[in-house]
Amino acid sequence: MQTYTAIAHTNIALIKYWGKKDDKFIIPFNNSLSLTLDRFYTKTSAQPITAATDSFVLDGQAQSGAALSKVTSFLDILRAETGSTQRLAINSTNHVPTAAGLASSASGFAALTLASCAAFGLQLPRRTLSRLARRGSGSACRSIYGGFVEWKKGQDDLTSFATPLAANEQVDLDIAMIALVVSAQAKKVTSRQGMATTVATSPFYPAFVKSCETDLLAIKQAIDAQDLEKVGQIAESNALKMHATNLGATPPFSYFLPETLVAIAAIQQLRAKGFLCYFTMDAGPNVKVICRGQEALKIQAELQALLPNTEMLLAYPGPGAKIVNSESLKE
Ligand code: ADP
Ligand code: DP6
Ligand code: CO
Repeated sequence: MQTYTAIAHTNIALIKYWGKKDDKFIIPFNNSLSLTLDRFYTKTSAQPITAATDSFVLDGQAQSGAALSKVTSFLDILRAETGSTQRLAINSTNHVPTAAGLASSASGFAALTLASCAAFGLQLPRRTLSRLARRGSGSACRSIYGGFVEWKKGQDDLTSFATPLAANEQVDLDIAMIALVVSAQAKKVTSRQGMATTVATSPFYPAFVKSCETDLLAIKQAIDAQDLEKVGQIAESNALKMHATNLGATPPFSYFLPETLVAIAAIQQLRAKGFLCYFTMDAGPNVKVICRGQEALKIQAELQALLPNTEMLLAYPGPGAKIVNSESLKE
């Protein structure tokens, strides 16, 4: 039997997706904009099988219950959309902490989409792959592409997909991200639950959506102008506005840990010393520092001195998702 293997890199949003207008199809309230990273990725293999049900192994562990059904429901969507009836054995490895706010769902569902569609015998345009990956996890639609990527919210299944900012998916801006791993533990409130609670209950939510429009326009201009200072300022402010909506939710919640605030204080301290460094944060306590690629090692060393017990992982712009093999499975 053949096996089909795909690699997809994670992406970190500079303008955040935080809320669904349509939960079933995962249509967001606002456009978002991300950077795909070289350092963190998922590698997923899909093998056509004759068994009655799909199987899913993640990081060497056979999955069952909710973890398995999340994948099989997604494969059901792929089968319904493509007309395939093929069951699959999925084997995936995350080279990124799972469910820790480092976007494993983005690389995970992007890799799963590519590997599964290849195992169904399909060669689909990337826009279709982006739309399909979106049905697994919204942020996954952006991991189909490399570099800076915008998810155009659209208004329905056909019109909601990601596109790369530059046609060649290269990044001209000298940018890097340092992930400060405050905790690699799985979060208590998943992105899905967190954003649903916020959309339904936070009076701050409409203000966040509105400001995303302005932030998106401004950050695209700053990227064009290669103005990293501006990019950092806008991204940091957008992330903090997103996190502020959670404090306004009922019940209120926050992804911040005490260590998160310590890390932010260290970044502010470096900034006060004249370093160009800003941060963004997703649905988890980890902080991602935005800085120049050329200064990244220096900034990492400065931060490490201030935060000696924090693991730091340096990432640069990364490529889009791709099929890496379709060899016969020998094991
Ligand atoms: P994260 O911050 O890591 O994206 P989320 O709460 O958004 O956290 O999503 C985590 C979920 O994504 C996992 O519980 C699992 O359902 C799914 N996921 C993560 N990695 C993979 C993978 N390699 N293949 C399929 N699904 C995955
Ligand atoms: C804070 O894509 O993980 O990282 O669509 O429910 O699977 P689901 O959520 P997910 O949400 C990501 C939220 C975020 C911001 C972003 O990546 O834009
Ligand atoms: Co996620």
